[in-house]
Amino acid sequence: MKRRNFIRKTAVSLASLAGVVAVVSYLRQFFPRLAGGKRRIPLGDTAHFPVDTYTFLEEHNLFVYRDYEGVKAVSAVCTHLGCILEKSTDGFECPCHGSCYNDQGEVLSGPAPRDLSWYRVSRAADGKVVIDPGTIVSAGDKFLTS
Ligand code: FES
Repeated sequence: MKRRNFIRKTAVSLASLAGVVAVVSYLRQFFPRLAGGKRRIPLGDTAHFPVDTYTFLEEHNLFVYRDYEGVKAVSAVCTHLGCILEKSTDGFECPCHGSCYNDQGEVLSGPAPRDLSWYRVSRAADGKVVIDPGTIVSAGDKFLTS
């Protein structure tokens, strides 16, 4: 194989691979059940979460917010390319490419293409409070504890 052909085939292969990765990353946002484990997450006693605070659950890549009324859960996965967000003083920020979200999960600055997902929090049949990452709700939805 001549050097020029080798370089051309390598470039085409790398461009194709990059295209496939980009398409899969883009499509993941439409299929949240494929984006990670979507089993219900038991929260335990919600009173253990500090009031007016976002608590990061590292093993599930989400934040749980509790106030005096109840609890809610938001994804900690950046909607750009999936980096894990960090809490900022008034919202969330991505350490990878700088996207910023407010504390309602709305994009303030990109490149993130869409807002964060909020997950349903409810009481399961066995009485435990659980997060359902497979069910998206609005930022205002909250599991009432009081
Ligand atoms: S992955 Fe968060 S801004 Fe790119």
